Amino acid sequence: MEASRPNLYLVGFAGTGKSTVGRLVARELGYALLDSDHEIEQAQGRTITQIFAEAGEPAFREMERAFIDGGHPAEGCVVACGGGLVIPPGMLERVQARGVVICLHASIEAVLERTGRATHRPLLQGDDREQRLRTLYAAREPVYRRTGTMILTDARPMREIVAHVLRVYREEQREWARRHR
Ligand code: S3P
Repeated sequence: MEASRPNLYLVGFAGTGKSTVGRLVARELGYALLDSDHEIEQAQGRTITQIFAEAGEPAFREMERAFIDGGHPAEGCVVACGGGLVIPPGMLERVQARGVVICLHASIEAVLERTGRATHRPLLQGDDREQRLRTLYAAREPVYRRTGTMILTDARPMREIVAHVLRVYREEQREWARRHR
């Protein structure tokens, strides 16, 4: 049987390194890299900030669902998912049905620092960012923990993180092939 190339979905909170890790892992695997935020922006012809302001968060979550359900190739991709994509009920299961899911994790301090200058995350904008971030993270953590493998991206060399993600992916890829034979 030809080796199957199930998609790898990188999930986790904003600022945990999904895009950077995704790019390097995709290169190692010879897969395409997709970023759900970017794909949605392209499809909509407007930025995430505009979508939140004009259509609201529920509409954005619906766009994320449509992207997962049919908006991207079924295999051979590393998909860096927006931080809230797996959070609405049923979404994690939908993503898990499409490929291998790995959650990246970082301390609140690292997330605060990494997201400090960016302006494209409407949920993390405004006063008292730290409190907002802590509240949002606490609400989401149970879902992130259910994803299966969580990989820490704090204070570790990038090549180590990439090797860890690749190791987990290859283990789960075999399991995936068995289940989807
Ligand atoms: C969001 C995270 C963002 C983006 C949007 C909402 C969230 O993606 O999808 O601003 O709900 O956590 P990143 O995780 O890539 O920053």
